[in-house]
Amino acid sequence: MGKLETIRSVVQFAPIETDRTAARLQRAANVDDLRRMAKRRLPGGVFDYIDGGAEDEVTLAANSNAFRRLEWVPRVLRDVDTIDTSSTLLGRTHPLPLILAPTGFTRIADSQGELAVARAAARAGLTYTLSTLGTRSIEEVAAVSDGPKWFQVYVWRDRGLVADLLARTKEAGYEAIVITVDLAVLGRRERDVRRGFTLPPKIGLGTMIDGAMHPAWTWDFVNAEPITFASVVGQTEGDGRTAVSLAEQVSTLFDQGLDWDDIAWFRENWDGPIVIKGIQSVADAKIAVEHEIEAIAISNHGGRQLDQAPVPLELLEPVVQEVGGQTEIICDGGIRRGSDIVKALALGADACMAGRAYLYGLGAAGERGVDHVLRLLADDTHRAMALVGARSVADIGRDMVRWRS
Ligand code: FNR
Repeated sequence: MGKLETIRSVVQFAPIETDRTAARLQRAANVDDLRRMAKRRLPGGVFDYIDGGAEDEVTLAANSNAFRRLEWVPRVLRDVDTIDTSSTLLGRTHPLPLILAPTGFTRIADSQGELAVARAAARAGLTYTLSTLGTRSIEEVAAVSDGPKWFQVYVWRDRGLVADLLARTKEAGYEAIVITVDLAVLGRRERDVRRGFTLPPKIGLGTMIDGAMHPAWTWDFVNAEPITFASVVGQTEGDGRTAVSLAEQVSTLFDQGLDWDDIAWFRENWDGPIVIKGIQSVADAKIAVEHEIEAIAISNHGGRQLDQAPVPLELLEPVVQEVGGQTEIICDGGIRRGSDIVKALALGADACMAGRAYLYGLGAAGERGVDHVLRLLADDTHRAMALVGARSVADIGRDMVRWRS
């Protein structure tokens, strides 16, 4: 036998992957790998807008670190031959207890933006939440996705505009609205301040140099139609056509006078379920229940608003103890693995929401990157459940986790 045959007889050569995106994604073993890939592909200002948090980013880090402080108490010999990761939220059964969180300005990561994410979510059977500050409209997203969809509402001072958005949301078949309540003013995202970041990005010398160093993103960006807040374009001056800082946008156009009494207005203008996103105390969770809110998302906006705000995973148990069973409870923030989802469920969440996880996938490899993230999260959830001895989400109990002292 010649040398080559000897080598062939002991080594199996892997087929060469000619699809470069597939080859890159094969090497992305987890969300963190996709984050690194996105960091390489996106201009610094764009990556920081997605990745960053408020002020010292204490909350940003704490959101995901909390999951590391919660360790498993696995059960064995429980016949985990078949695992069912499905669960029900607002009357709809999802293959995974995961909702894709609303993220404004998604087209900054990839020109397909919200369309790419909505299509990937629909393929995975998961609910996608479109942001008010989405860069694809309510109708454009509905046209490409017959999967379940929610619409997230920022309350413009112009209530006529909000009423119109709600009517269009209903018409387009969205199942619930998500009112985000942790953005009375914009948190101070200091990475954006340092970079002078605006939406859409202003093209200065720094942006040009940054763009030249990230040609794949720049080519995609300059060849796509200009970015706007597509659902409100032409209806308000804050439609994203002129570059403003997000802080200006929030303080001049959104209603800072919003309070619990306004829920009645939403009930008059929207006849489906309401999710309040941004609950950060047991007291407010109780008030939400008094207003018969169908679901609450415990959230600090992914650490982008009030630094040192409560960490969703840590607030979960006290909220569940107080209002569990009276409203559905979503844990939002810091989810990077399927095992994080299982941990939140062990503490009593009905589902989780994730934002950056899919944005990293989108920034790394476009729509296929989002598919990859959702597959990773689903596989992870399945594996974590098998390893802790839970055949179904109903089996995931409080006794399966404990806080590391
Ligand atoms: C957000 N988030 C957000 N929330 C919201 O209600 N409306 C919005 O328009 C946005 N926009 C937005 C943009 C970007 C780039 C990020 C990262 C986040 C918050 C989002 O819905 C969610 O609460 C967090 O992303 C959850 O934290 P993780 O999953 O990113 O850790």
